[in-house]
Amino acid sequence: MEKRVEAGEYHSKDFQWEFLKNLVENDPSLSHHLHHHPDSSSPSPDSQPWQDFHSRHSSGKFFKERRYLLKEFPELVSCEEKSKLLEVGCGNGSTVLPILRGSKNIVYACDCSSEALVRTKENIDLAIASVDNFRSFCCDFSKSKFPNWVACDHCRDNFKLKKDCYHSGESEGIHVNYKCSLSEHCVGGVDFVTLIFTLSAVPKEMMPRAIKECFAVLKPGGLLLFRDYGLYDMTMLRFEPEKRIGFREYVRSDGTLSYFFCLDMVRSLFADAGFIEVELENCCVKAAGDRNTAFFHGATKARKPKTCIKRVQDDEGIVHTKDEAIAKVAEDYFHGMFTASNTRSLADIIPEMDHKITEKLMRL
Ligand SMILES: C[S@@+](CC[C@H](N)C(=O)[O-])C[C@H]1O[C@@H](n2cnc3c(N)ncnc32)[C@H](O)[C@@H]1O
Repeated sequence: MEKRVEAGEYHSKDFQWEFLKNLVENDPSLSHHLHHHPDSSSPSPDSQPWQDFHSRHSSGKFFKERRYLLKEFPELVSCEEKSKLLEVGCGNGSTVLPILRGSKNIVYACDCSSEALVRTKENIDLAIASVDNFRSFCCDFSKSKFPNWVACDHCRDNFKLKKDCYHSGESEGIHVNYKCSLSEHCVGGVDFVTLIFTLSAVPKEMMPRAIKECFAVLKPGGLLLFRDYGLYDMTMLRFEPEKRIGFREYVRSDGTLSYFFCLDMVRSLFADAGFIEVELENCCVKAAGDRNTAFFHGATKARKPKTCIKRVQDDEGIVHTKDEAIAKVAEDYFHGMFTASNTRSLADIIPEMDHKITEKLMRL
């Protein structure tokens, strides 16, 4: 079993963002990070640099286990047992490890690099005695759909229409959907998606598509938990000017990308995909024993909306479930309400209404 190391200091509510911003924006030596930069040079998505990265770091220790994760996202522990979670861009397993250790969730993990999946599996085997609630798969979510067994087209469509289509808790966490191929039963979507330092690695113009894909496989009411590089993180300020390929976008020497998020950018990306913001803040981790190195991160929890109309009945008693038909019935209803010709005057209606202030109360 692996030896566990204490987490560094974790700061969120006490974190002085304005102070850091002023410091950076008034430092002439950092001005090259601030200029406007045309956004055209961002390379097309390519998983090869990440594949090479994980092959080079075959010890699987490059990213440390994120011990603060369950403190930051306590929903991962307080949720129902066997809640389903999809970790996107799992790297060597730094996020799935604390979740598998600290919860009874069913964990799915993907990465665009098959090498990363091997590292993750090795690290899980090393840290946890027996695991039967974990499954991984290779996927570049900036250009491909998650596989049908995560959420088939039928489930994705249902999520758009239905309010309460939770399927968690079945034996083995699987519900059979006959629209999927026989060998790949759909699990009916997930309760959580985690995007931990993965979105920053996706080219900026592909981010909206990637987030929409996460939205599509979340059950209604499900949570997306996001943590990534914040604007003016130490990692950003250390980049050489020539590594800058777009506004707040950089390429490392090995070809992997890194974007640095401000809260407004996170807010608009997630809102555009359909999410409702639950919490959004800057936070920071100070590595244990290292007083000078602070890494500034942005974190957000965004919820998929749950309330939507799934069926309506029209004046003739016919039930409609299709989006367009529901919209038509609603439109007719409100049209009728505001243009009705046989309206009664208030003076006629008031005497028929229940009196909330009784005769007795009036006498008091
Ligand atoms: C910085 S690591 C983060 C790993 C992990 N989430 C963690 O908490 O440490 C980013 C990971 O995202 C993966 N990645 C980058 N672009 C991706 C994409 N388009 N689709 C899926 N995975 C991607 C990389 O291979 C890498 O393993």
